[in-house]
Amino acid sequence: MIPIAKPIIGKDEEKAILEVIASGMLVQGPRVRAFEERFAESCGVKHAIATSSGTTALHIAVLAHDIGPSDEVVTSPFSFIASANCALYTGARPIFVDIEPDFFTIDPAKIEERITPKTKAIIPIHLYGQACDMDAIMAIAEKHNLAIIEDACQAHGATYKGRSVGSFGTACYSLYATKNMTTIEGGMILTSDDQIAERARLLRNHGSPKTYEHVILGYNMRMTDLVAAIGLVQIGKLNEWNSIRRANAAYLTDGLSKIKGVITPKVREDAEHVFHQYTIRIPDRDNAAQKLREKGVGVGIHYPTPIHKQPLYQQLGYSDSLPVAETASREVLSLPVHPSLTKDDLDTIVDAIASL
Ligand SMILES: Cc1ncc(COP(=O)(O)O)c(C=O)c1O
Repeated sequence: MIPIAKPIIGKDEEKAILEVIASGMLVQGPRVRAFEERFAESCGVKHAIATSSGTTALHIAVLAHDIGPSDEVVTSPFSFIASANCALYTGARPIFVDIEPDFFTIDPAKIEERITPKTKAIIPIHLYGQACDMDAIMAIAEKHNLAIIEDACQAHGATYKGRSVGSFGTACYSLYATKNMTTIEGGMILTSDDQIAERARLLRNHGSPKTYEHVILGYNMRMTDLVAAIGLVQIGKLNEWNSIRRANAAYLTDGLSKIKGVITPKVREDAEHVFHQYTIRIPDRDNAAQKLREKGVGVGIHYPTPIHKQPLYQQLGYSDSLPVAETASREVLSLPVHPSLTKDDLDTIVDAIASL
């Protein structure tokens, strides 16, 4: 089976972990600080705050912006559940806006109609590794005085008009095992705002500016030095891996665009896509997914149910009709695009789809 994702963790990471164990500095020590500095620098941002996951990064980011009960945040329903749950955790209400059919990201033309006096932030989600339409989103945020909390959990290294995603507001990354770079589990918050950074650091570690002093209600959402050491190795390889992902995507698009009914991913003008997922639209998707698995091609469906249709959100009373996201949920199919694929693997994927 050609896997849909394949974490690359090898000798360099093994060596880095063993060095941490030998050093005895295991939790939030020098490797975490070095990893934070490297991450911030790579995105052109002043501060980075490492966390235990992308989900905890998003949760902290929402709290750091002082968003809570009776507040609203505007986001896309076409994502992993954490993109919206981060608001629910704080008592705030996610408000869903439909997506652009070509790019699967929030449709800026539909945002303003969902803004109310309770709206505090927009959470643009750079889905599959492609930036949202940030010029349009930033203009709306500025006009209505809203915070931007980027969900860049799938977009390590992606750019928009030459600018790194993650540098437009407060941003959150996931470092989960299957992401373009990983610490197995882990997350990162980026911001150039000194106050948000300070609050995020406190929230991450029991509201504690120094040992056994607690100034706000905080959590244990820390990263360990052990996994930061892995992250430091991985960040050095990210650009090369992203280039291979892009080349794999171009190869797949070349082969698949000749097949009737298949719609290959569109890349936004002026954006650099990092292909965390290579996602096509295909007729009779569920049947196609099953047949491809039988032919040895691992596939994924991101996402089969939009967030507002999830049982949790139905229980919470969401009754939105968001037709572009709902249609996408029935049609999308993610194919392997990771850097470990061979040319034979790519040909196998194209041939398997051609023979459906
Ligand atoms: C778009 C998006 N947001 C948030 C998350 C949550 O990240 P994590 O799994 O590291 O908690 C993910 C991870 O899958 C994601 O893809």
